[in-house]
Amino acid sequence: MTNETILEALKSVTYPGFTKDIVTFGFVKDVKVEGDKVSILVDITSSAPEVKAQITDEATVELKKLGFLAVDVTIKAPQAPKQMSNSVSGKNIAPHVKNFVMVSSGKGGVGKSTTSVNIAIAMAMQGKKVGILDADIYGPNIPRMMGLQNVKPEIQGNKVQPLQAYGVEMMSMGSLMEEGQSLIWRGSMIMKAIEQFLRDILWSELDVLVIDMPPGTGDAQLSLAQSVPVTAGIVVTTPQQVSLDDSKRSLDMFEKLHIPIAGVVENMSGFICPSCETESDIFGMGTSKEVAASYNAELMAQIPIEPAIRIGGDTGKPVIFHNPDSETAKRYQTAASNLLAFIDKVNAEGGADNSAVQPTTPPGVSACSTGAAASQPEPSGGGCGCS
Ligand SMILES: Nc1ncnc2c1ncn2[C@@H]1O[C@H](COP(=O)(O)OP(=O)(O)OP(=O)(O)O)[C@@H](O)[C@H]1O
Ligand SMILES: [Mg+2]
Repeated sequence: MTNETILEALKSVTYPGFTKDIVTFGFVKDVKVEGDKVSILVDITSSAPEVKAQITDEATVELKKLGFLAVDVTIKAPQAPKQMSNSVSGKNIAPHVKNFVMVSSGKGGVGKSTTSVNIAIAMAMQGKKVGILDADIYGPNIPRMMGLQNVKPEIQGNKVQPLQAYGVEMMSMGSLMEEGQSLIWRGSMIMKAIEQFLRDILWSELDVLVIDMPPGTGDAQLSLAQSVPVTAGIVVTTPQQVSLDDSKRSLDMFEKLHIPIAGVVENMSGFICPSCETESDIFGMGTSKEVAASYNAELMAQIPIEPAIRIGGDTGKPVIFHNPDSETAKRYQTAASNLLAFIDKVNAEGGADNSAVQPTTPPGVSACSTGAAASQPEPSGGGCGCS
């Protein structure tokens, strides 16, 4: 029996929470055969005991199928991190939040806010302490989607208590302004607002803060990445080519900002008829898979167009909580589990690090005021916004 045959058999063992297998991930480090005994060494990135147990069980079954009488699976796993983590290098202005997740898209209106709300609540339903920050300063929609429209937060000194719904803490510019008011802000003011949302909101010791971004790749994204180490980035796209094109820009931005990519959520992927539950293709389906793969990312979920999702958003009754048995809710739950496994993996590998994306000017010195800045090319995506 060759090692190739054994590795081929081990390709049936998927890494828990992912679609890829342990061989493709490169986790199988050694294979030894002695007569009817086989020993393998698997070096994984998660410290979770259930991950270790699942791989051991599945690998044993696959190797026994090859006819081995004795199977020895050794799993090398990292030490469990002391906390779920970001005791990391780089700047962190909200160290009591363990993990930050940035939800982005290249195009507007593809379902970032809907995805953020449903995945945040799904993680809370799975027992995590979760917050959601609506960083869409110009178009804050999260209060309505969480049923917190017109609820005003409590102010404590110069800090603000987040609101609460569905077991999730929430803050949004929409909760701080009167309904229908608009903001006309320059880039530097957006950057300040993002910082204040992280520093001056009394978030609890959260496991995960989901941050719903405005569309595109601008000041808000850069400012966030410079303020806190972002553990995971999610790109939301619809299946049409025009949206996929823009989603590549978001994936590229995550790479430039050193944000580990948890995956792509394909939203409005097919349509489930509310009467007969038939799934039909409207904008296309499954097209995001290739884009995700080109950035070594997972397709985390395909969420269909479903009236219940839109109604849930408009009425503040998210589908994940109010229709928990629906197919859509199950897909959001799977995406949430995948996200938590990914966060676990990033932390086991040393956590997020934003030291490489810090501004290059010394603290307290504006890039506008240094003569050097004028003669140097701007770092991509950076700049102070002055002209
Ligand atoms: N899968 C879906 N099925 C049905 N309606 C959906 C679905 N996803 C989102 N919607 C609806 O589409 C609209 C846009 O979604 P959403 O506000 O989440 O997008 P967005 O990407 O956050 O937009 P923006 O770029 O303006 O912030 C909302 O009315 C929402 O309820
Ligand atoms: Mg939005």
